[in-house]
Amino acid sequence: MTDLVSFEDGAKVAIVGASGGIGSAFLRRVANAERVAAVYAFSRREIDAPNDKVRWQALDLEDESTIERAADSIGDDDLDLVLVLSGILHQGDEVQPERRLAELGAGNLDKLFRINAVGPALVAKHFLGKLRRRKKTVFAVLSARVGSISDNRLGGWASYRTSKAALNQLMRTIAIEQSRRHPNSIVVTLHPGTVDTALSRPFTSSTPEDKLFSPDQATDYLLRVIDELKPEDSGGLFAWDGARIEY
Ligand SMILES: NC(=O)c1ccc[n+]([C@@H]2O[C@H](COP(=O)([O-])OP(=O)(O)OC[C@H]3O[C@@H](n4cnc5c(N)ncnc54)[C@H](OP(=O)(O)O)[C@@H]3O)[C@@H](O)[C@H]2O)c1
Repeated sequence: MTDLVSFEDGAKVAIVGASGGIGSAFLRRVANAERVAAVYAFSRREIDAPNDKVRWQALDLEDESTIERAADSIGDDDLDLVLVLSGILHQGDEVQPERRLAELGAGNLDKLFRINAVGPALVAKHFLGKLRRRKKTVFAVLSARVGSISDNRLGGWASYRTSKAALNQLMRTIAIEQSRRHPNSIVVTLHPGTVDTALSRPFTSSTPEDKLFSPDQATDYLLRVIDELKPEDSGGLFAWDGARIEY
């Protein structure tokens, strides 16, 4: 398998959100890649490790102490790639995407901000120092095209859009500081396309078949994008096909 060819042989990868639809597809693929020596997998729900390269530990994005402990569990190992593949759009009856202003509430905004924007920024705070020096490294977070302010023509989903816009701004800010310290360290946000997972399923009944990716397909596309990233791409938002999305 030729995945992750732009990284060191014996690469070490951390995946936050390894239990999700996209996260579990990435986990299988990365753990089976020949170049990868170790995978540190994190989520709240425990996962079935695809092989013995994988070590799992609990992490809750709403609890910084679990993020710090997760980073500490890596010890002195140098990471090549950190993937934050977590996020929510809805959760039970209490968190649902808003169709109109009347449905907007502080509860939704707060929950989506904490999981989609604050959590990944805290992961960056505790994990960036674990990345290998001098070689190409990548810190990539799943965002969404709907977080682009200039692309917003439909409205709706105010909390989700806003949390992803905040995520994009946080990652751009972090990318600037990181590239001053480590010019070969790339921080990006990625749009996976519409992917058939528990997150999207309530909203994809009218999505054309060729526009709805399986998690394996999305993983394929995004691994290619990650492999082709260059230092000058740091701070950007990229779609599954490698195209830059304007904020
Ligand atoms: N599916 C799509 O069409 C689509 C489109 C655009 C963008 N995205 C983005 O892609 C990402 C992954 O989505 P998905 O479709 O794979 O969703 P999913 O299947 O629902 O997976 C969500 C993941 O987020 C993790 N998570 C949620 N709350 C967490 C918390 N408090 N702490 C730690 N982890 C938490 C879950 O793990 P635990 O529950 O085990 O903690 C799970 O691993 C999201 O950021 C989403 O916005 C998806």
